[in-house]
Amino acid sequence: MTIRSCESHEDRAVCVELQRRIWNFDDIDLVSAAIFVVAQHSGGHAYLAFHGENAVGFALAFSGDRDRRRYLHSHMVGVVPEYQDQGVGRLLKLHQRQEALRAGIPLIEWTYDPLELRNAHFNIARLGAIVRHYIPDFYGESTSPLHGNFPTDRFVAEWQLESGRVEAALAGKSEPKAGAGVEEISIPSGIRELKKDDAGRAREIQAELRSRCTDLFARGYAVTGFRREPERGVYVLERYED
Ligand SMILES: CC(C)(COP(=O)(O)OP(=O)(O)OC[C@H]1O[C@@H](n2cnc3c(N)ncnc32)[C@H](O)[C@@H]1OP(=O)(O)O)[C@@H](O)C(=O)NCCC(=O)NCCS
Repeated sequence: MTIRSCESHEDRAVCVELQRRIWNFDDIDLVSAAIFVVAQHSGGHAYLAFHGENAVGFALAFSGDRDRRRYLHSHMVGVVPEYQDQGVGRLLKLHQRQEALRAGIPLIEWTYDPLELRNAHFNIARLGAIVRHYIPDFYGESTSPLHGNFPTDRFVAEWQLESGRVEAALAGKSEPKAGAGVEEISIPSGIRELKKDDAGRAREIQAELRSRCTDLFARGYAVTGFRREPERGVYVLERYED
């Protein structure tokens, strides 16, 4: 497996094709090759992952600025279904981290659907990101079957690249906190099926999470851990300060 920067218009066209295979997006929702050019031109990064000659995943990040601190906003990381759960996503994120640090950028952020437990495990448990912002309907409605025409509520994942938490997670040594002062929020697994089979219940789960997180984040809590259990995933929150 090799990871490298997008270097040509052909590379960026490959990233567009990968989006169709990964998300089944309608054309209107695809990020075009021109936007990849703009992202790279303005300080962002775009990478492709190859297995031999085959492109199997990509990552796209924009350059952002908050309170005069530069960071990367990682807009997309995707791996084609046949190659998921084989460590390609992790390799892409590690490459992104290495290149950000090389450019002197200590923070990468991205948003994700907190009901998608695979992404929760990947982002919080495996990469060591934390979450303290919940944005209701971030993108408006999407045509992706993955999003199921639901409000696109998102967690903002903050990946503080040089933190002890991230180092520990990458080394496989992070354990979610337990005991006094810790809050937990459970999400049932299989949310995609639920969105199709019982959309009302799926909407209720989303609304409960929205209200609980909005309250806890306002009181200074952050998601710092995630546990997988047989029929559910559990977000672990504790009071958090930088
Ligand atoms: C999210 C994504 C980029 C991760 O890439 P990947 O190559 O599959 O990631 P990895 O193999 O490095 O790690 C995936 C982890 O999720 C775990 N996982 C898989 N399915 C899971 C599920 N339903 N619930 C919880 N964890 C799950 C895997 O076991 C693995 O964890 P482990 O290393 O502890 O075993 C990829 O799955 C993907 O493209 N998904 C669809 C698009 C997407 O949602 N992109 C992110 C938002 S832009």
